[in-house]
Amino acid sequence: MYCIPRLEYFTPEAIDAAVKELLAALDDEARAAIDAVACEHFRNRWLARKNGLLTQVNDLWLKAAPGPDKRYVGIVFKVLKAKIEEAVELAEINMLSLEAEFGEEQDLDRRVTKSIADWRARGGGQTLDSALASRLKSETLDISLPGIERPLGVRHPVLRTLDELISVFVKMGYSIAEGPEVESDYYNFEALNFPPNHPARDTQDTLFIANQELKAQRDRLLLRTHTSPVQIRTMENLSPPVRVICPGKVHRNDAPDATHSPVFHQLEGLCVDTNITFGDLKGTLDHAMKSLFGSAVKTSFRPSFFPFTEPSVEVSISCPFCGGKGCRPCKQSGWIELLGAGMVDPNVFGFVNYDPKKLSGFAFGMGVERLAMMTYNVDDIQQFFYGDMRFLEQFA
Ligand code: FA5
Repeated sequence: MYCIPRLEYFTPEAIDAAVKELLAALDDEARAAIDAVACEHFRNRWLARKNGLLTQVNDLWLKAAPGPDKRYVGIVFKVLKAKIEEAVELAEINMLSLEAEFGEEQDLDRRVTKSIADWRARGGGQTLDSALASRLKSETLDISLPGIERPLGVRHPVLRTLDELISVFVKMGYSIAEGPEVESDYYNFEALNFPPNHPARDTQDTLFIANQELKAQRDRLLLRTHTSPVQIRTMENLSPPVRVICPGKVHRNDAPDATHSPVFHQLEGLCVDTNITFGDLKGTLDHAMKSLFGSAVKTSFRPSFFPFTEPSVEVSISCPFCGGKGCRPCKQSGWIELLGAGMVDPNVFGFVNYDPKKLSGFAFGMGVERLAMMTYNVDDIQQFFYGDMRFLEQFA
């Protein structure tokens, strides 16, 4: 009776020879499994988990194969497993159809002849060589094929602009602070001197997290509408002097158009110390804009309003495209409005236990996409978010 031999060599030739012998035995035994008892014996002999012939192939061939030969033996093992399972199943189907046709009849010759014919018709006895060959073929590595090209990515233009901005301020001695994108009403509004129900809140159309009616207003969560809450978090944690920038993503319920996006990025700046003046704010922003857009660029400061700065300003730069003469990007005005800024309102210092009599400071906040639009002459902010490769590849 066939038993799995221990192999001396594990070369493909030695394995193929052993496989041939095994398959011949499998074929013979499958054909002999013509009634229920024989079928059960056949199944157990080949597939029993404990010491079945397949398990022995695993132990004596696969596990015993030295490292370099393991791959080939592994492939052979998989094919053999499939073949043995298929042979057992075919034998069982065959046996059932014989039972149906011959019942208890004892004409063994007729039964065996029919069994072999059915067995062959169902694909039994097909040599392993062809199955193994097709399996091996499908796993062949054709080293003459071209490799898979993975083009190098580049930084997104918005992140590139943000990185440039960060580097300008880091060179001026600013460090980087961060805060959460899901923020509480207290940090986003109240501590920034937006009293509850104050109309200034309407300038930032806010996305609130649902189902918070039972919470006190100051604890309600929202998607931060600006990076200014990081000013408060920073002052709560650091004693003056403070010089930080806070880059990050913000959200507003703004309808998308050429200059608005519901998700965009801001870069906040905060500087607090003794004797910080409006002149420091002007000098800092003028230097930053010249670093970004070239030394010919001029800055202009116009009065504005933010609840957390007093006085507040809107900062514009002379149009870097036309040098101030007037063109399409600057709507013929020669100036482009870029950011909001101002001197920190003493009320804000009150929320973080800073002494407004000793300290003063300035803050500013700019939209990074708007700056990127200026830097790369992009006329539709939506381009930054479509993910269109034809647009993005221009920055490679
Ligand atoms: C603010 O968000 C203030 N926190 C800025 C600030 C900080 C002022 C510190 C004073 C001191 P404002 O809402 O204007 O301000 O937004 C600032 C900038 O974000 C705008 O100048 C603009 O560049 C950009 N911005 C605003 N809304 C959008 C939007 N929907 N899509 C793209 N950019 C936007």
